[in-house]
Parts: sequence; C-alpha cells; structure tokens
Amino acid sequence: MESQACNFIGGKWVPAQSGGTFETRNPATGQVIAHCADSGVEDIRAAVAAAREAFESWHRLPAPQRGAWLYRVAERLVHEKEALAHVLTSEMGKVLVEARGDVQEAIDMAYYMGGEGRRQFGHSAPAELPNKSASSIREPLGVVGLITPWNFPSAIPAWKSFPALIMGNTVVLKPSPDTPFTAALFVRILDESGIPPGVVNLVLGSTPQVGEALVKHPDVALISFTGSKATGAKVALDAATHHKRVALEMGGKNAILVMEDANLELAVEGIVWSAFGTTGQRCTACSRLIVHRAVTDRLVTLLLDRMKTLRVGNGLNPETDVGPLINQSQRDHVHDLVKAGQQEGARLLAGGHSLTEGEYAAGSFFAPTLFDKVTPSMRIANEEIFGPVLSVLEVQSLDEAIALNNSVEYGLSSALYTQDVNRAQYAMRELHAGIVYINAGTIGSEVHLPFGGVKATGNGYREAGQAALDTFSEWKSIYVDYSGQLQRAQIDTT
Ligand code: UN1
Repeated sequence: MESQACNFIGGKWVPAQSGGTFETRNPATGQVIAHCADSGVEDIRAAVAAAREAFESWHRLPAPQRGAWLYRVAERLVHEKEALAHVLTSEMGKVLVEARGDVQEAIDMAYYMGGEGRRQFGHSAPAELPNKSASSIREPLGVVGLITPWNFPSAIPAWKSFPALIMGNTVVLKPSPDTPFTAALFVRILDESGIPPGVVNLVLGSTPQVGEALVKHPDVALISFTGSKATGAKVALDAATHHKRVALEMGGKNAILVMEDANLELAVEGIVWSAFGTTGQRCTACSRLIVHRAVTDRLVTLLLDRMKTLRVGNGLNPETDVGPLINQSQRDHVHDLVKAGQQEGARLLAGGHSLTEGEYAAGSFFAPTLFDKVTPSMRIANEEIFGPVLSVLEVQSLDEAIALNNSVEYGLSSALYTQDVNRAQYAMRELHAGIVYINAGTIGSEVHLPFGGVKATGNGYREAGQAALDTFSEWKSIYVDYSGQLQRAQIDTT
C-alpha cells in the first residue's frame, strides 16, 4: 500500500508549498513506498521560522523537563520499535534484525540524553581575585539544521536531534531523499510524545537545493551533516560564508588487521559482520582486510567458506543475512569499483556481480565480494565503496599493517585481532582513527561514547557521548565580583 509523507512544520503535518511530491521505493522489490513532500526553499524558510519561534520557550524550559520529555520519546520508541523497524527495512533494505538495532540505537540515545537533562554540568573555579566567583555554563546555539543519510534512518536523526534538544536547541531535520518515509515516522513518534510545536521540524525533499537552503539560512546556527565527502566539503564552504558551526561525518575506509597470533575463527565472524552486515553500507563498514602473510591463506579459506553461508535477499525475510543496496545508482557505483579492482590486477575470489534473476529481478542486489592480491595503490584499497566488497592486503608485520591502515585519507574505525596484549596496546596508540576495536570488527559503536573520525572522515566534532553536548552548545563564562570595588584581573593579583 502506498502512503504519504508530509513535512512537519510548527507542529503541523503539511505538504510542500509547491504541492510537489517524489516517490520513495523499496530497494528489494522496487515497489513504491510513499509519495513524499518535495520541498523547496520556501518550506525551509517556514520550518526555520517555526523553530526560531519555538526556541524562545524551549531553551528557557528547565533542562530536567526537556529530559523528561526525552524519556517519553524513548518509551514511545520502545512501543513503536517493531513498526518503525518494518518501515525502515521496507524503505532502506537492511535486514529486520539490524533495523531493530537501528531503532534501539535511537531508544538508547533518547534515554541517555534524557539523563543529560540533570547532568549539564559546568565548572565552578576559584577566581584569581578575592570576593569574586568564576563559573562556566553551557548554552544552546539556537536553531540547528540536521542533514541525515539513508543508512541509519532512525539512529542518526536520533544521534543528532536528541543531544541538540536536551541542550535547548530547536531542530530542522532534512533527511536523505532515499528514506523520507522512515524519517516522517520517526518524527511522528516525537510528535505523539507531546513535543511542543516548532521544537522539531521536518522538511523532505529530493533536490540538493533543500539542504543548501538550510545551510545558507542566516537563522540556522549549526549544521550537523552526515554524508559524502564531496557534499560535506560543499556544506563546510557554504557554512563558512555564513559564519556558522558545521559538524561533519563523512565516511571511512575502515580496516581490520589480523596478526599471525589471532584467533582466526573469531576474526572471521567479526570480518563477515563488519564487511557484509548492512550490505557494507555503514560508515564504519570494513572494506580492507590487512592480514599477516603467515595466516592469509588460512584466513581467506575460512572466510570463503563462511561467505558461502550468507543469504542475500529481502531484509523482511528472516532467513536473509544481506539485503539490497539502497538504489540502482549505488549499485552502479559499487560495480564500477569492482571493475576497477579487476582492471588493476586484484584477484576476484567471490561475488563481483549484480544479482538480477528471479527474486532479485526488481531490486538492487549485489553479491558479497572478496578480492585478494590487492595492493595499496589500487582504487579499491583507497576509495569508500559503501557496498559488500572486501579487499585483502597482505603484510609482514604489525608496523606494516598499522602504516597501511593509516595510509588512506579517512580515519573512522580500525580493528585489530591479536592475542598479544602488548601488540594490542601499541596498536591502540598508533592506529590513526576515531574508533579502535581490539578482537572485534569495525562496527558496533555504543551511544554513550564519542563517534566520529580523523582526517577526511570529519572536521573535529564528534557525535554521541559527552562530545555531542559540545557540538550542540556554547560555553558561557560568568564572573561575579562581590568585593564592591574595581578589581583588575592580571593586575591587582599580588
Ligand atoms: C554509520 O555507519 O553511519 O558503529 C553509523 C556502528 C553503528 C553506527 C554506524 N553503531 O556501526
């Protein structure tokens, strides 16, 4: 059944002012999921105006009361978990068990940030002059613009909006055109939790102009963006011209390092989960396997055996391990990189092709793919693929493995399998990444720790954890002089 998805502005569900719509489709079946508001600059203007108006009362509401509201959101999300997960799988394609995890991440974030309503600690410090106090507190930024991707259509809007809200900001959310219906259901759940009108606004759209209008709007204080490196760079340039804060999360080329002393059976499970889980469509997905040559043959044999058990199909089918890619153009992108790997001399050991027959005919499926004999200069060893494609690179030492890990332009998530505690400690320091795992794959971050990466992965901000509070607030330092006389800092101190 086809549905509608509208914008949510000032507490009301409204169509795009132009009346235009666009379709969102199930990537497993090609069926239309919903007709969605195809917004323009005028819809962004209306949403920002509503958010600005709501900011006046929202940021004055005591933070513990904002927290209580987030607890209600969490409870409502728990209640709607199954329904939201089904919509998410139908629109985005990831298997149902992972869709439930995506919703669970939103639930975790709602509870975690709800608690931050009573924990927005500032600092109280001794002043350098007598009868004077010094302290610092956090303050909201104002209206924040959130531009979210399709690969975590529930978790990432939650990562961005809940810390923003607990700090007292109001929100305009612009989700990816590939998952507008899931975003609308997510916002409906916030609405049903009793959110005051204008505190969270949703603007759907199929064109780049919608996000651009948000980035350029003078009343938007911050843009939090997750997406491609190229779009992120453009967002940063536009934001700089308008003197606004911009927090970017732009992907990775994550590696799992397997040393010769590793538990290979354990490593294979982590590798398969990280490379082929979510069909490789995570920023944290593993796309490089850097292996000590003493164990490469054995590991590759184990891996190929394990890959044979992976069932590709519709994510709603409980038997499925690997769902479709998000759309046909993403499948073309993955296929182009696979062809580049073959042309550059990598050896294709499994997959490497689209699945187009029978149950796959109407979807955008791609076979889980493994290359070995990959060398560091090949495109498949450097470019983010965002698909089920894994490249094996062979090394002779831990130092060589770490150097190879660090040689790419991204630095999001790196993992090491070893049983040697000294090597693990050494690697934890030397791996240039925002997230490091020991004896686990590259995916699986938890909401109370910072999420993000170094180099081209980001621009220094982090999502989740306490770090998210820094992204969505400003510090204000307050001095109170109760001496009754002029006291000059740095001068009247001795
Ligand atoms: C992403 O891929 O954009 O660590 C987010 C993980 C998830 C979040 C991934 N908790 O893989």
